[in-house]
Amino acid sequence: MTDKYTQFVSQGIGKDLAKKLGLPQPAVLRRYKAGEPLAPGPVLLLGNGNASGADELAAALLGWGLDVRRNALPKEKLGAIIVVLDDVEHPDDLGGPVLTAAQSLRDLVPCARVVTISRTSASAASPAVAAGRQGVDGLLRSLAKELRAGATANGILLGGSAGTTSPSTLGALRFFLSGRSAFVDGQFLTVTTGAGQLPADADKPLNGKVAVVTGAARGIGAAIARTLYRDGARLVVVDIPAAGDHLAAVANEVHGTALQLDITAENAGKRIIDHAMERHGGLDIVIHNAGITRDRLLANMDESRWNSVIGVNIASQLRINEALLESKRFSKAPRIVSVASTSGIAGNRGQTNYAASKGGVIGMVRATAPLLAEGGGSINAVAPGFIETDMTARIPFATREVARRLNSLQQGGQPGDVAEAIAFLASDAAAGISGEVLRVCGQNLVGA
Ligand code: NAI
Repeated sequence: MTDKYTQFVSQGIGKDLAKKLGLPQPAVLRRYKAGEPLAPGPVLLLGNGNASGADELAAALLGWGLDVRRNALPKEKLGAIIVVLDDVEHPDDLGGPVLTAAQSLRDLVPCARVVTISRTSASAASPAVAAGRQGVDGLLRSLAKELRAGATANGILLGGSAGTTSPSTLGALRFFLSGRSAFVDGQFLTVTTGAGQLPADADKPLNGKVAVVTGAARGIGAAIARTLYRDGARLVVVDIPAAGDHLAAVANEVHGTALQLDITAENAGKRIIDHAMERHGGLDIVIHNAGITRDRLLANMDESRWNSVIGVNIASQLRINEALLESKRFSKAPRIVSVASTSGIAGNRGQTNYAASKGGVIGMVRATAPLLAEGGGSINAVAPGFIETDMTARIPFATREVARRLNSLQQGGQPGDVAEAIAFLASDAAAGISGEVLRVCGQNLVGA
């Protein structure tokens, strides 16, 4: 699906017209391409963090081939600003590093990144510490709304045993700096443990892994399959028999195998693991993407609409996970990622059934995380906002146009944007992140 408006106003007469009329001028976002630098310019690393942590972080950035500055050079254009705020103990501690960063905001190149690294307020020892830490939340989300030209601001929260240079902190930092996070804006990812491993080959982080993706015949699911394949995984793609032809085409494209299966079947979990074992000799990654909408105001809701949405979107995931976790053949340290929705967080008119199912996905993910922790597994959810797919193409024009523009990036996301977030969470670099929900919504301005 293309957003013709964004293309029109990005150049020539369209650009001039949009400027004159004060219309939204969404930027063409910087998206990941193998071999391109992580950031589109030098990286300014700021903070009042302890010197050794900052030095280690600077060393990691240099190791990634980034041009790192500890002080801004006058008028130099920057690709990213990283602000380390892990030692904030009071709101008074924020002003120094934040106002230093402020002086460089006008020097950011298009599609630049601002990333904060701070600690979770839940683990704060006093109200003052909690106030300082929670302050980062408000300031980051506000800054994301102020940035322009495709630039984004996101934060990494350190909880539990995680530190500024833990593998998943670095993994999340790479994700946020890169074009992989193009449509993630104003969001936080919490790293809770020191677990995880950065990939030997940054362009093939899923080498050697076997992954199953449900609902992969089209839309976001097909994009997930393509992205996991690009990142080195071997694929099992799943969809209903009626979508068999499209599914076979995706399977061919990603050199994977197709499994025609209605995920609401009682034995869906067993069918998935049997297929993965027989055809690929293992199963490491499960992406629960298949989902449906049957929208109606609750006052007009019927049993069939309600039950089918709950059945496909959450009950099947619960049943499949249960079967997989009971199976001795499933990976001891699986990575599971479920597709939720911002509707399940903020609510959406006409979607009580859908929002209940997607809220359910979030609850399921949080409660499953501790069950996987001992073996080193992880489970997370990705909550897309408005994404350009067949599902959203069916929304009436005026409603669609409003939904598409009402985010900080003034455009809908691409299926590949959701896929990138999922691919990151499915990688071992994200092993220290579990039970979390990452929104891929361009920072929806309403609700979530
Ligand atoms: P889509 O309708 O284009 O694709 C969904 C796929 O799931 C289809 O291929 C369909 O055949 C398959 N599927 C449906 N029921 C199934 C079943 N019982 N068993 C196996 N496969 C089944 O949808 P889209 O837009 O690609 O959405 C993918 C996921 O992302 C869904 O979970 C959806 O709720 C979620 N999402 C989408 C958003 C968007 O803006 N498009 C926003 C937020 C969430």
